[in-house]
Amino acid sequence: MTESFEKTKIAGSIAAGALDEVNNIIKPGVSTSEIDKFCYEYINDHKAFSAPLYYRGYPKSCCTSSNHVVCHGIPSEKILNDGDILNVDVTAIKDGWHGDTSRMFVVGECSVKAKKLIKTTYEAMMEAIKIIKANIKIGNIGYTIQKIVEAEGFSVVRDFCGHGIGKKFHESPNVLHYGEKNSGQELKAGMIFTVEPMINYGKFETKTLKDGWTAVTKDKSLSAQFEHTVGVTKEGYEIFTLSDKGLNFPPKL
Ligand code: MF3
Ligand code: CO
Ligand code: CO
Repeated sequence: MTESFEKTKIAGSIAAGALDEVNNIIKPGVSTSEIDKFCYEYINDHKAFSAPLYYRGYPKSCCTSSNHVVCHGIPSEKILNDGDILNVDVTAIKDGWHGDTSRMFVVGECSVKAKKLIKTTYEAMMEAIKIIKANIKIGNIGYTIQKIVEAEGFSVVRDFCGHGIGKKFHESPNVLHYGEKNSGQELKAGMIFTVEPMINYGKFETKTLKDGWTAVTKDKSLSAQFEHTVGVTKEGYEIFTLSDKGLNFPPKL
């Protein structure tokens, strides 16, 4: 394994490990700032840094995006309620390398429609990751996601995309979660990037709130997201942010 893969895997395991623990603290009555505090401490305890903290002025250690929040929800004193769906996005920096991952969590019991959205989002991400290998076109990732998502009547967010990652948090290439088959650049062995589709129950348009970060669906419909950091190999791919505990997908669903 190359240094970049080894180091990204270590950072990715810390981020994934934080989410494994977050799974135990999410319940009705918990605030998103409690989740943030937990992530901050978990990352610190693993002698790593939180990449979001102070990144372009971002004030917290993770993103907590509930219900119609698409991404970049800022942890606050807001309390989680039964039936809420929540994405927690954690990025750890260990030894200079980044590992970025997010998952959906369900607070108590959610609606059947929320479950279907979450399942479809996860399936779309995983099916897109499975096609990754050297020499395919990057557009096939977005094509795969869009096909699965639109077949269920949901929509793919255009305003945010996956990204190259390494010693920098965000770098090239942009990984679009929609698009045409065989479009875009060719994947090369050794590339590392995220696949992190944001999928809306309704229309794909988003808007950003006055805090400058929180992105919400324009039509107020529910939104879901999962994210893995992935490396390209000659034969396929390696996921650097898998759960050791089998918690990649919410166990309750
Ligand atoms: N983790 C997010 C991503 O997947 C980025 C968050 S940037 C922040 O790329 F500043 F909002 F934390
Ligand atoms: Co990311
Ligand atoms: Co992320």
